[in-house]
Amino acid sequence: MSHVAGPSRFEDAFHKSAERHERAWVFVAFVMLMGVLACTMYLVVYDYGMVVRTTGYRSDPTALGGSVPGSVPAAEAGLVKTGPNSYAVQMVAHMWGWTPTPLHIPQGATVTFYITSIDVLHGFEVKGTTINVTAVPGITGAVTYTFKRAGVFDIICNEYCGIEHQAMIGRIIVDQESKS
Ligand code: CUA
Repeated sequence: MSHVAGPSRFEDAFHKSAERHERAWVFVAFVMLMGVLACTMYLVVYDYGMVVRTTGYRSDPTALGGSVPGSVPAAEAGLVKTGPNSYAVQMVAHMWGWTPTPLHIPQGATVTFYITSIDVLHGFEVKGTTINVTAVPGITGAVTYTFKRAGVFDIICNEYCGIEHQAMIGRIIVDQESKS
């Protein structure tokens, strides 16, 4: 038996065939991946109604009272009534606290929070609710929530923001409906 230098004709054909199959399967995998991606995008945009924030949501941090770390905005509107049972509030994060706090909300009210920061990144999280929005300087994020249960809710910062990060706590007080 003599050995031939280089691949035999059989080996050559085998490699060509394997390569064809590999290419076909890579294509199949690619199509499947794109399908999953398209379905995810569809769900996120049309089912959950999520939209990527655009420049329309940008805000000027200095207009809120200053960009000096630690300074609290002077213009503090608090809760603004926007409908029979709906409210809006500008929530400002700063090193290291939340304004306004404590925030009183009537039980059952639907509140839209417009959240921004005057200095660094903070995380606006209201314990016991689904509210969790990053407070970004220069950008205003919005989240709407209906407070069905009366009680005291802590606002915590869930984005490391400096030496007093762990003490950056605010308070939302949902006042019980007066029985009439
Ligand atoms: Cu603000 Cu951590």
